[in-house]
Amino acid sequence: MKFTLQAKDPLSKARAGTVTTAHGEIQTPIFMPVGTAGTVKAVHQRELEQDINAQIILGNTYHLYLRPGLDTLEKAGGLHKFIGWDRPILTDSGGYQVYSLSKVRKIKEEGVTFNSHIDGSKHLFTPEYAMDIQRTIGADIIMAFDECTPYPCDYKYAAESIKMTHRWLKRCCTRFDNTQPKYGFDQTLFPIVQGSVYKDLRVKSAEFIASMDREGNAIGGLSVGEPAEEMYAMTEVVCDILPYEKPRYLMGVGTPINILENIALGIDMFDCVMPTRNARNGMLFTKNGIINIRNKKWENDFSPIEPDSDLHVDLVTSKAYLRHLVHSKEMLGAQIATLHNLHFYLWLVKQAREKIISGEFYEWKNQMVKVLGNKL
Ligand code: GUN
Repeated sequence: MKFTLQAKDPLSKARAGTVTTAHGEIQTPIFMPVGTAGTVKAVHQRELEQDINAQIILGNTYHLYLRPGLDTLEKAGGLHKFIGWDRPILTDSGGYQVYSLSKVRKIKEEGVTFNSHIDGSKHLFTPEYAMDIQRTIGADIIMAFDECTPYPCDYKYAAESIKMTHRWLKRCCTRFDNTQPKYGFDQTLFPIVQGSVYKDLRVKSAEFIASMDREGNAIGGLSVGEPAEEMYAMTEVVCDILPYEKPRYLMGVGTPINILENIALGIDMFDCVMPTRNARNGMLFTKNGIINIRNKKWENDFSPIEPDSDLHVDLVTSKAYLRHLVHSKEMLGAQIATLHNLHFYLWLVKQAREKIISGEFYEWKNQMVKVLGNKL
């Protein structure tokens, strides 16, 4: 993997760069659509590529390990071949989904035992196994196995937790560095900064993560219920410590405003289920703010869902029709709303990149934050 920086905004810490992986380039700042189980829900790979030009998608170790399982993924020749996606993929390690999804679990030094949310079967994820699984899935960027602390989290717990996440990281690196990719292309491992909302713990964690000298770094444990101001404060502290010349990935964030504010603090990569999950409930992100298409207000509004758009479905779908589809729980409603929201998120980060390059990011960001804060 390679990272080159093209531009830096003069009035903030925003940067524009390019990540080069074995499956092609990613222009940063970037948003990565979440494709948990080998699919970005309700969107075909062809649409991701041709309609919204997604440059990278995310997969989840936890889900893919449980279903379809490692045997099938290995026989397919890895996730890229299995799903027919030839662009970059990043996989999360399971060190988050295990806590949020599985039924019973025990966190020990060795790893995490959990019961599958699908059939109740018992499993153990260790840092080593999380590396082996991600080698088998075959993502371009794989994530360290960490503990994502909840919010609120008491100081003592968070302090002990980062120590374990750091010990786990050493084990991840040893395993990763002593194993080979399975499908003939390079993979890279990103470590994850934790430390809850405590500045001194974030500093400690960021310093340790930076010292591991990997090709890129991530920040976890945010957007778990803390106020946005606390999230930004943590991002700022951590970005000042993580190396300038390596990509920084903020995990699980966020709203369009969160994304813009964190770009301004020096973040390069984002992922979040918000545009896809909320689309299925009728929440649309538009250039004028957030709307709920289920609202009666749109019943007879035959204007396009986004008039000033280069996405075909935005122009040919009226608000009234999409409202009808979502109300009727028609699958097409989820498809159109999801494609629309992802297109909006990708438009937003592309605009951010262009404004960073032209030196106008800071002003534009402040203006966008005002507009997006409006509810239609
Ligand atoms: N996704 C969102 N937050 C986190 C985190 O803290 N750790 C991991 N592994 N994934 C995440």
